[in-house]
Amino acid sequence: MKYKVSDFTLDEKLALLAGKTRGRTSDANGKISEVVMSDGPHGVGANLENPPTPCTAMPNLSALANSWDTDLVYKNAEVIADECIEKKVDVLLAPGINIKRTPLCGRNFEYFSEDPFLTGELGKAYIEGVQSRGVGTSLKHFALNNREYNRTLQSSDVDERTMREIYFPAFEIALQAKPTTVMCSYNLINGVYASENEKLLRKVLRDDFGFDGVIVSDWGAVHHAAKSVKASLDLAMPASDEYIPVLKQAMAEGWLTEKEIDERVEKILELVEKKELADKTKKVCYTKAERHERAVDIAQECIVLLKNEDNILPLSTGNIVVSDYAMTIPTISGGGSAMVLTEHKPSWLEVQLQERLQNKKANVERVWNSLIKEGCYKADTLVLCVGTSREMEREGFDRSSLRLPYEQEQFILNAASVNPNVVVVVYAGSAVDMSVWANKVKAIVWAGYLGEGAMEATANVLTGICNPSGKLAETLPLCLEDSPTGRERGNGQSELYREGILVGYRWYETMNKEVAFPFGYGLSYSQFEYSDLKIDKKTETDYEVSFTVKNTSNVDGKEISQLYVRDVFSSVLRPKKELKGFVKTALKAGESKRVSLTLNARSFAFYSTSLDKWYVENGDFEILIGVSSKDIRLSDKIVINLPCSEQTTRSFKY
Ligand code: GLC
Repeated sequence: MKYKVSDFTLDEKLALLAGKTRGRTSDANGKISEVVMSDGPHGVGANLENPPTPCTAMPNLSALANSWDTDLVYKNAEVIADECIEKKVDVLLAPGINIKRTPLCGRNFEYFSEDPFLTGELGKAYIEGVQSRGVGTSLKHFALNNREYNRTLQSSDVDERTMREIYFPAFEIALQAKPTTVMCSYNLINGVYASENEKLLRKVLRDDFGFDGVIVSDWGAVHHAAKSVKASLDLAMPASDEYIPVLKQAMAEGWLTEKEIDERVEKILELVEKKELADKTKKVCYTKAERHERAVDIAQECIVLLKNEDNILPLSTGNIVVSDYAMTIPTISGGGSAMVLTEHKPSWLEVQLQERLQNKKANVERVWNSLIKEGCYKADTLVLCVGTSREMEREGFDRSSLRLPYEQEQFILNAASVNPNVVVVVYAGSAVDMSVWANKVKAIVWAGYLGEGAMEATANVLTGICNPSGKLAETLPLCLEDSPTGRERGNGQSELYREGILVGYRWYETMNKEVAFPFGYGLSYSQFEYSDLKIDKKTETDYEVSFTVKNTSNVDGKEISQLYVRDVFSSVLRPKKELKGFVKTALKAGESKRVSLTLNARSFAFYSTSLDKWYVENGDFEILIGVSSKDIRLSDKIVINLPCSEQTTRSFKY
């Protein structure tokens, strides 16, 4: 270590444990460098002192998750890191990996998924991508910040098994990428604020998961400085005058020791040294144009084709009429700290479509929604863009409904009542209840919040230049009432997670609830066949699962294959199936490829609160290969028969 705690006075040390400003750490009277932090997960706005500045607006994490592509997520993160270097930001406050427990959560647009395994793998790739360029990250929000309602006052009251199996695993997996910092959440967990929750921060995060970086508070999440230090929180952000007096008072009362202060200061000094070391090699690699090109290339991989009746897509000939209710460019990101502003002037979708269809017998034009009737009569195909806005999906607020605004639903229904060939493109950051109109239109394309590349990406998919390959990382339910929490949101002081481990598809399947579109679902312009499932046993709990995927169409495409595990007979309630592997395979027309995934003890274990350990119960397990959580194409059974001594552990690693 270049810097030693003994190099600093007590006042300098105490100052290091709180922000110097809204987005910078202390420089200890010039003895060390400041560390500059900035949001956010979809692009680097500005260090937090100034209003957000324009940046390259990348797809929101909710859209990115629909790619199921860790390499793509890595590349996406590299672009953002490049701009961090340009803007002299040392730590990007991302990725947010909270589990989508309720589809109403206002920040779902900036989170990946309802499934912890998919979330963790994508979060890990994101961190690796950013940090590969020497920029730090902040894995957030640890933990159980699953809605915005009363987020700074309400306690998430959750049983141990649910935390261990649903709300912690994404952090466990993402921590394998060694994020520079972990950000604790605003909320209380079982009655104790995350920022001073010693079990959460020291026992779970540091001792159980081995995190040895800096734990930073969410902005304003520290309520008692000394309690936070005791819980092993290192950095309280942003700057706060009362922080140091509270620490000095606690020291004077003998409740807090200088040794405890020094342990935290050491973590900050390590962070500063990492920053100073990285500064020696960091350099900008991309031009603005190259970043935009990547924004488009990545966005198009995130688009999910949900419905394509009569193969109305891809568009090719005839009169194509485009309209949108909002009469503006669709939303490219949700609101709040993860909002991004872009300098890129996106052009209208019809312009993009016309450019791509100019050599075909197609005529593309726009009608404004007031003239939709006129447009309907002359259109061979009608493309309607709808969606939510950054006022509807934003930090600090939850939605009160999953429905699109009434006017947008009527807009679709009116058009569909006149023209049977309607394609609807949805730009939203989280689940939308489409039940009023989904069966009245021929095609539904789930775009999500795609960032500045939205128009080009959408046009590439609608015209077939890009064969859609995205699949849903979040269930689209038939209605809010079918979701695990429905309209419940706690009483302002506490919310009991009464659904336990049954979140997302785990809920809908175990409770036999039909959904509009299931987790893992997505169509393609290609068709794929699955065959030859083989399960190689390496040990009693380590298996290699392989199978063949064939593209039986005449269109090159990509296929996301999903590996689920089912405990056939368990002594505790377990979901009908759980995702334990996935892979995206590029397949040329007619091409076959052999694909393999691995399983380990953790793939079969549940968390036993009686033993307070992970536990692999002996017996039958089904291995399921699905094209979605509901559509299983291959399956087989294995039997696990472990000696008692190997059935339990505190740390079956993923
Ligand atoms: C916010 C958010 C957090 C963000 C931080 C800094 O309130 O919860 O995600 O990084 O403050 O803006």
